[in-house]
Amino acid sequence: MFEMLPNYWTPVLPVSELGESPVSVTLAGEQIVLFRTQSGEIRALRDRCSHRSVALSLGRVTPSGCLECPYHGWQFNGDGACVHVPFNDVNKINLSGLAVSSFPSQVIAGCVWVFTGEGEPSAVQIPHSLKLPNTAYYIHREIWNTHWTRVIEANLDFVHLPFVHRESFGQIAQSALERGEVLKFQVRDDCARIEVLTPYENVPPTFALEWHQPNLVVVKFDDMGFPVKREHFFAVPINEHQTQCTIILQMGEGMDTQIQQFAAQEFIKPLVEDRVVVESQLGEIPTMAEECHVPTDKPTLLFRRWYHQTIARQLVLS
Ligand code: FES
Ligand SMILES: [Fe+2]
Repeated sequence: MFEMLPNYWTPVLPVSELGESPVSVTLAGEQIVLFRTQSGEIRALRDRCSHRSVALSLGRVTPSGCLECPYHGWQFNGDGACVHVPFNDVNKINLSGLAVSSFPSQVIAGCVWVFTGEGEPSAVQIPHSLKLPNTAYYIHREIWNTHWTRVIEANLDFVHLPFVHRESFGQIAQSALERGEVLKFQVRDDCARIEVLTPYENVPPTFALEWHQPNLVVVKFDDMGFPVKREHFFAVPINEHQTQCTIILQMGEGMDTQIQQFAAQEFIKPLVEDRVVVESQLGEIPTMAEECHVPTDKPTLLFRRWYHQTIARQLVLS
């Protein structure tokens, strides 16, 4: 399962969107149902009944906190175990053979995160800016019709700023462009992380892009005096052709809620200007031998190398 993104933690839904009814999400080609148990804990199961493959998300949560299939009423607990089969003598059924797959889940920075594997999950590896207590996070989501790897590359790319973002923040690169400057990036890479420090002289040296394995790019606006401290752009694969772009903004302290909302919305607008060009690309990033490369492609080429050495290779082996 989850061949497109196996064995990673990733955000799938703002926690505010999960009430009393189950919610279905598609993650890396798999349907998952999220629901709350009696104690309010969030659980994630495969959204397919083990009986006749009906979507469990069409069912309801029982007063005892189980998920009841809408077809014949089988009930599954938060671990995916089948605990009730109506009209049948439970002594004549092996209930343990009727379970559905369950996936580890937890809430981080206002989102429900799911581990894309079964069994014991690895520890979640996320930047500290997503773990701060008493911090307001603003979440924006939209679906882009492209492979998730193209979205990561767009977010790791400094060179497109004065073109795609000509009317917005791309202006910071305008003078360098006009001078015909040859950009030299400072790139630090340790396989799980790629950091690209700004090549532009008119922004603080703390401004940087940082990719975190597998599908997160953080933009650090440290020391720039913005209402947003950091942008966390997750490219969450829905399937081979669609990506759930999930942007989590770490807001500055002490802001009025309404001003915060307004500032966040204004901040998001230019961030999604890439959509048109990225959707015009040809799906999944190809191997290094394909497409043409120049020195300023170094950050994205590092990502390509990692992707083809890890995830794409797993696809080949499976
Ligand atoms: S399909 Fe779910 S109980 Fe029959
Ligand atoms: Fe962009």
